[in-house]
Parts: sequence; structure tokens; C-alpha cells
Amino acid sequence: MEQTAVRIGELEVPESLDSRGADGFTASAELANLVNGLVWGNNDLWVSPGTRLEAARPSSYAAMRLWAAKDGERHVGRALLEFPLLDNRENAFINVMVHPEYRRQRIGTRLLHAAEEAAAAAGRQVLMSWVKQAGQPAEPSTMTVLPRSGPGALPEELASVRFALASGFVLEQVERISVLQLPADPEGTGRLLAEAQTKAGPDYRLLTWEGGCPPEHVEQYARLRQRMSTDVPQGQLEYAEEHWDAERVRHDEAEARAKGGRVLVSAALHKPTGELAGHTILEYYPDQPEVAYQEDTLVLQAHRGHSLGMLIKAANLVRASELWPAARRLMTWNASENEHMLAINVRLGFRPVGYEAAWQKRLAGLPGQGR
Ligand SMILES: CC(C)(COP(=O)(O)OP(=O)(O)OC[C@H]1O[C@@H](n2cnc3c(N)ncnc32)[C@H](O)[C@@H]1OP(=O)(O)O)[C@@H](O)C(=O)NCCC(=O)NCCS
Repeated sequence: MEQTAVRIGELEVPESLDSRGADGFTASAELANLVNGLVWGNNDLWVSPGTRLEAARPSSYAAMRLWAAKDGERHVGRALLEFPLLDNRENAFINVMVHPEYRRQRIGTRLLHAAEEAAAAAGRQVLMSWVKQAGQPAEPSTMTVLPRSGPGALPEELASVRFALASGFVLEQVERISVLQLPADPEGTGRLLAEAQTKAGPDYRLLTWEGGCPPEHVEQYARLRQRMSTDVPQGQLEYAEEHWDAERVRHDEAEARAKGGRVLVSAALHKPTGELAGHTILEYYPDQPEVAYQEDTLVLQAHRGHSLGMLIKAANLVRASELWPAARRLMTWNASENEHMLAINVRLGFRPVGYEAAWQKRLAGLPGQGR
């Protein structure tokens, strides 16, 4: 095994990008953007250091820790570990990256070990990692790795696959990543919206808001956000229900603003009961002007079959094209087994461009875990 002079150390999350010691955080953010760009083949996954800093700021809901691998002053690797603090307190989310010039020197392994020890010391028992790849998942063959749930397969020669398997992770799921060209075709989207409105009928009213949920709906909106954590197919990922209330909704909105993000939500109100039946969220960061992100979409079980998914998605798209004229691509992530959501996306014009592997590892037996 080749030994290198590369040192692993924890990086502080600075108060601001101008604070003393913030250079390391910025250099690490730049490394993340470089490696993501190489994996993805373009800059669509670029996230500004300022947005990364706001995402890393601790709150009552989550905390992050960051490790750097440095060759002298040069950042050549990083591991980011996120701890949910309110729910899912047995879990931690990990992302490891190494500069291409420094691979196969066990730097990734050393970074992962540092993060795993910290996770175990904090009582976390399950590590999860989501790894993106451009292109289409492989057809299952002897040269592929199959997930424990759902369709899709990963070519076993991918560095991330080799690394994850060598590090004791299990492939749980393969998500499809799709892109819709923006601005969405106004005629086509308008037609789908009108059809969905007719099918939904007079019992449902469409609500659309930017930034903050209207106060009269915030409790119900929190309920939808909570249900999102259990109602999407997640295979055997040990992800428990999140706890959402109005305070968490407001925190989430404030965090998006602090990150420089704009948030657009469409929801369907069931008029006879006053209940919010479903919601969909788009996010946009003007410092990454050509890309918008599709976040949650959920229709509650009792309200399915009324075209509400199409209604709220098409409405949000129409509004997004007005609000964010510079946006050219909308990215979305869906479990490959989530047929209904994928069918809506295909009708709206989304096309598959990549996939995301969901990996999971139980930390049994690591020092600090005590079992
Ligand atoms: C995945 C990644 C972090 C690995 O970093 P690394 O420092 O090269 O990994 P290591 O040297 O510690 O590899 C550990 C073991 O993983 C396996 N492995 C890693 N990369 C491999 C490759 N390209 N081919 C075959 N096996 C590989 C090997 O078993 C290796 O042990 P060995 O070299 O003794 O045979 C790096 O390739 C990377 O940054 N990729 C892009 C980002 C990414 O996909 N991150 C996902 C992880 S969360």
C-alpha cells in the first residue's frame, strides 16, 4: 500500500467566508465542485461556497462535520458528515471525495474512517451515502451490482462502486435523475395543467406561494413535509419518519433564504375538508442561474387518482418559467420504482440523464459505539 504525506484533519465551519480560517472551507467547497463536475460531465451540480456554508451551519435540526485531506496546503480530498438532530438520530449521511490525481492511495478510506469514528462516537449506527453518476444505469449482468430494492444496476468498474463495496456499504436503491429543459413548453404544460384542473374538479383549489407558506396553511404543510419522509419508496434504507411542525417549516424557509435560494411551492387544497392534499417544491439559486431543482412532490393517499400530482407540478412549472427566466434545466430525483411520479415527469418532458446510488452501512463494532 502506497503511503503519502497527505494529512487528514477536521475543518472548522467558519462564521462567514471572510472569517479567519474560512480559506480552508472555500478550498474544500471548490474541490467538491471540481469532483462533482468531473463525475457529472458539466457544471450543473456546482454549488457556491456561500450556499455550502449556510447548509453546513448547525441548527436544532442538523449539524455537519467536515474533514480535509491536504497535501501541504492543497486540498486533495474531503469527507462531509451530516447528523440529523431531531429525528433519525441513529443515522448519519456521508460523502467522500478525492481529487483524481490522488486516488488509489487510500485517502478516501482514511477520510471515511475519520468520519465513521466521529459518527460512531456520536452514537450513530447507520451511515447512508448518495452518489450521483451521469448516463444510464447498466443492464443487469455479471459485471453489475444490483440494489437490494427496485430496478437499476451499477457497473461494478465504477470507482465509487468499488470504493463503497470495499468499505462495507450495501447498495440499497438506484434513483433516476432526470432533467426538463426550461422554460417549459408553455402550450404543452398549459394543456396538461388544464386537463388536470378538469380532472381534479371543483373540490380542489390550487395554491401557489413563493418563499413563505401562508400562515393559515402552515400546520398542514408541516404535515405534508413529514409524510414525504415516509411516503416515497425508500427500499430498505433505514430512514425513519421525520418530525415536522410549523417551526421547522419556518426554519427551512429561512435556511433557503440564507443560502441565497428561492423557493416556489404549489399545493392542492381540498375545499370540503380544508385539508392540504399535496404539495410540490421547486428551488432556485440565482448564483447557479441555469439550473433549478425539483424537491418534494407528494399527494396524500386519500387524495390520489385526481390528477393532483400533475396539477401542482404543471402549475409550479408555469410559474417557475415566469419567475426564473434564466433557468434552462430543471433537475429531479426519483426512486426507479416510483412509477407514478416518473410517469408524470415523462409527460411533462423530463428525460433521464443520470442516476444516484443509495448506499447504506451499519456501523456495528466500530470503536466508540460500545456494542
Ligand atoms: C470513490 C473515491 C472517494 C475513492 O477514493 P480513493 O482515495 O481513490 O479510495 P481508496 O484509495 O481509499 O480505495 C479504497 C479501496 O476501494 C477500492 N477502489 C477505489 N477506487 C477504485 C477503482 N478506481 N478501481 C478499483 N477499486 C477501487 C479498492 O478496493 C481500494 O483499495 P485498494 O486500492 O487497496 O485496492 C474517489 O474515486 C472519488 O472521489 N470519486 C468521485 C466521488 C465519489 O464517487 N464519491 C463517492 C463516495 S461517497
